[in-house]
Order: sequence, then C-alpha cells, then structure tokens
Amino acid sequence: MPTAIVTGATGILGREIVYELGRHPQEWTTVHALSRSKKDAYPSSIVHNYIDLTADAQKMAKELKDVSADYVFFAAYLQRDSEEDNTKVNGDMLESFLKALEINNTASNLKRIILVTGAKQYGVHLGRVKSPMVESDPWLPEPPYPPNFYYRQQRILHAFSAKHDIEWVVTYPNDVIGFAKGNFMNLAASISIYAAVHRELGTGDLPFPGSATFYEKFDSFTYSRLHAEFCVWAATAPGAANQAFNVVNGDVESWSNLWPRLAARYRLRVPADQFARPAPDASDMPLADNPPISVMAKGLGLQGRTPQSHVEQTIDLTKWSQKPEVKAAWERLAEREGLEKDAFGKATWMFTGFVLGRNYDLIISMSKARAAGWTGYHDTWESLEKVLDELEREKILPKATGKFVGWSMQN
Ligand SMILES: NC(=O)c1ccc[n+]([C@@H]2O[C@H](COP(=O)([O-])OP(=O)(O)OC[C@H]3O[C@@H](n4cnc5c(N)ncnc54)[C@H](OP(=O)(O)O)[C@@H]3O)[C@@H](O)[C@H]2O)c1
Repeated sequence: MPTAIVTGATGILGREIVYELGRHPQEWTTVHALSRSKKDAYPSSIVHNYIDLTADAQKMAKELKDVSADYVFFAAYLQRDSEEDNTKVNGDMLESFLKALEINNTASNLKRIILVTGAKQYGVHLGRVKSPMVESDPWLPEPPYPPNFYYRQQRILHAFSAKHDIEWVVTYPNDVIGFAKGNFMNLAASISIYAAVHRELGTGDLPFPGSATFYEKFDSFTYSRLHAEFCVWAATAPGAANQAFNVVNGDVESWSNLWPRLAARYRLRVPADQFARPAPDASDMPLADNPPISVMAKGLGLQGRTPQSHVEQTIDLTKWSQKPEVKAAWERLAEREGLEKDAFGKATWMFTGFVLGRNYDLIISMSKARAAGWTGYHDTWESLEKVLDELEREKILPKATGKFVGWSMQN
C-alpha cells in the first residue's frame, strides 16, 4: 500500500492533500505531513513531522531520518517581495529537500513526485495572457520577463526525476478557493471579511472593489479540495506521468455572477451604479510593459493589439483595510461574535486587490487533464460557499444568514 510525504501540510493547498490522503487510510497507509507549524488534529494515518525547508540538505536529512515514502506531494511555499527572491527561496527549498532524500537513500524508492505550482506559469501576474491557457503555451523568456520561480522548480524536478528514474507531475491551479490559517494568498477569507465589515458598517451596500472591466470578464478558480483530489489521482494515473496539468474547477466564472451572490449571503446589495460613483480610494497599477500574450502576438495575428495591462481597483483594498472606521467595525464585530480578532490583520488584502483588479480574462483549459482520464469538476460558487461555511465554523467569519434567491429584473 502506498505511503506519502506532503510538504506545505498546513497551507491552503497542502492541507487539503493531507486530508484527502487521510480519507483513504486503507489505500494510503502512512502520510507524513511536513511543515514548521502544526495547526490541525490529523486522522490516525497522518504523522506530522517538523521540517524547516530553508535549512541545508544535511540538516534536513537528519530531520527526515525516519521519513520515507512512495510519493511526494510538494506544496510548500514562502512568499518574498521580489520575483528574484521568490525564485531563490522556493527553488532552494525544493532542491535542498530533494537532496536530503538523496542523502538518506530514500530518493530511489520514490515512484512519483507531484509538484504544486500555479497559473503564474503563464505570467498571469504580468498582464493579459492568451485565452484559453493551455499547458503547451511557451514559457516566458527571462529576461525581459522577471524570473519565474515555477520554472526553476520545474527544472529542478525534471533533472532530479531523470537522475533517479522516477516520475513527476506538476499542477497549475489558479485563484485558489480554500481554507488555511495564516497563509499568503487567501481570496475567500478576505472577500468574506470585506463583506462582513460592510454589513457591520450598516450602509446595506457591497460595492465590488476590483476592476469594472474585470467584473464582466472571466476567471477560472481552483477549489482546494478538487485540487487535492486531482493530486491524489495524478499520483497513480498512468496517463499523468511526466506531465504538467492545469487544475481548475471546470467552469468559468465572472464576478458579475459571483458578487451579487456574495452580497445576498451577507444580506447586502450590489449598488446599481457601483462603477459610476466617485471613487476617492481607487488605484491603478500598470503591469509588465508587454503582457505575456505579446510573445505570441505575431502568430496569433494580434501584433500591435497587446497593450500593457493594469490592476485597477475601484476601492484599493490595502487602503480600505487601513481605514480607522473599517478597523473599528471589525473590532466591534469580532468582539460581539467571538471571532478570531487577528483574522482581519492576517487577511491578504494586497493579493485580493490584485486578483479582483486585473483587467483581463483568465480562462484555463482542462482539456489535457480530461484527455488523460480526469473527470473531476466543482461548481465555483458552491466551493466558495463550502469554504465560507468552514470559515464560520472556525470563528473567522460571523454566521451569514442571507441567501441568493435569483436575479432581480428591476431596472
Ligand atoms: N493560494 C493561492 O491562491 C494559489 C494560487 C495558485 C498557485 N498557488 C501556489 O501553490 C503553492 C502552495 O501555495 P499555498 O497558497 O498553498 O501556500 P500557503 O497556504 O501559504 O502554505 C505554505 C506552506 O508552506 C509551508 N512552509 C513555508 N515555509 C516553510 C519552511 N521554511 N519549511 C517548511 N515548510 C514551510 C507552510 O507551513 P509552516 O509555515 O507551518 O512551515 C505552509 O504549510 C505555491 O507554489 C503557490 O504559488 C497558490
């Protein structure tokens, strides 16, 4: 029966992989969940092991002396301020970890390594990309584009797998909807805290803080549980070996479809004129001079039609989160409802402002995974509701009592 190691075991994506493996103890007899902190009580087949992946390989090998497995799921991540630093730290963590397995002579027992990366693969953080994004799209040249830590991680993985004759899989999730305590990118927690504070402020409105253009464009989201199911499937599926796969829910969504539902959950309404109002807290940030689509512009017949993209926030979420009346409303709400007080400070406002503020589509194809035999699918709004329910159970959010009952036809 297979055994597994999961790094990043407390993260938004790694935690779900641990739980998914833990749901099948007959199949996955021992699962080593690795991280520096331990945040959850695990099922009996899960063993938590402390590891600091920034340590050198020798030190890590000592920490891992009782840890070996057939499969590795690598979902650890450390955020740094520049892409150079992200590439250094996240590449080094993977490299040293694999080196430690080599030192302990456990590398050759491995069957497959599953590396979790993301849609930054396509440069979604740099501007407009081709629609849909498919796994065979070219990697962006560095320079002129900044270093991409996923490229370095994949090169490390490919070389290590070839050396030890083991198989690999890479996943490209996007805009993850999931639950984690204190992570770097958490969309569901921040938009729902934004909504709960608006409810507390008492205006009755829930204005969309992101881009008016993006409100009507499309995004592809990844439910963390669906991603975990994919990883566990891909670990043993014969057709998945030595391949990278997009992993998104399988629907495409727009905020014009999701936002009124979120508002209804908090018994608020989307202001009819939300993008026509004065916007004193708006911000506009230009992205890369030439968006990623420009590298393919010639072949696509789009030369001269790929202008610089922007992150346009109607309400800049970082500025909003620092307003005294906003902070006071959260304090009041958290006190009254017995919520985790520091959830507001830990919410990822800059990341969420970025995700909602982009002014281009993010449409991600699941055709390659489907051709390899993957049949998973999850409705995005339902996945968001599941995560919001979990955040309520964990006392990060107040209990929301509203329900979306359908579209109003009023003009
Ligand atoms: N979140 C998203 O929306 C999203 C979207 C697309 C792609 N991704 C990608 O998915 C991957 C995983 O990201 P995530 O969002 O799941 O990360 P996350 O929620 O921030 O979790 C990071 C994990 O890494 C562990 N970790 C960090 N530093 C460590 C260290 N020095 N030693 C050992 N463990 C360490 C953390 O555990 P401890 O702190 O307890 O050690 C935690 O379990 C990244 O490549 C990310 O870019 C994320």
